[in-house]
Amino acid sequence: MTNLSDLPLAAICEDHRDLVEEVDRLARICQRPASSCRCTECPTVVHEACEASLSETTAKMLQLMLEHFEREDELMLRLPRTRAAIQHCEAHRHAHVEFSARYNKLVSTWHHADVASCIRACRDFMRDWIHQHALRFDAELMSLASQAARA
Ligand SMILES: [Fe+2]
Ligand SMILES: [Fe+2]
Repeated sequence: MTNLSDLPLAAICEDHRDLVEEVDRLARICQRPASSCRCTECPTVVHEACEASLSETTAKMLQLMLEHFEREDELMLRLPRTRAAIQHCEAHRHAHVEFSARYNKLVSTWHHADVASCIRACRDFMRDWIHQHALRFDAELMSLASQAARA
């Protein structure tokens, strides 16, 4: 029997909540209605403050994501090596690597003159990614971990 009694399941759920909060914070950077803001209409001082908040928030979000992936990886390493677990871990790790590549690409292609569009693009990407990933991979990981803890 595998000792999985101290699995970081609660910490992983907390990470998910923190990440969603961070995405909400990102969405609030731009004070004007998301669909109508054009950065060219904002005073320079407002625009610069938005740009600084965007850089800070996206850096923090990436850091939270990477720490979260490490925590999930630690959990995956502790699963019994069943066929289902091996297949899951391979696909799940691949999804995490793919996230980092897509996120870095998104951030690197931003044009700083249009912070409002960057915010919208990042917010939509993060919301979709977290939602889809959590429903598929994280839910499966939790289920495998719970099964192992009960075995
Ligand atoms: Fe995950
Ligand atoms: Fe996750």
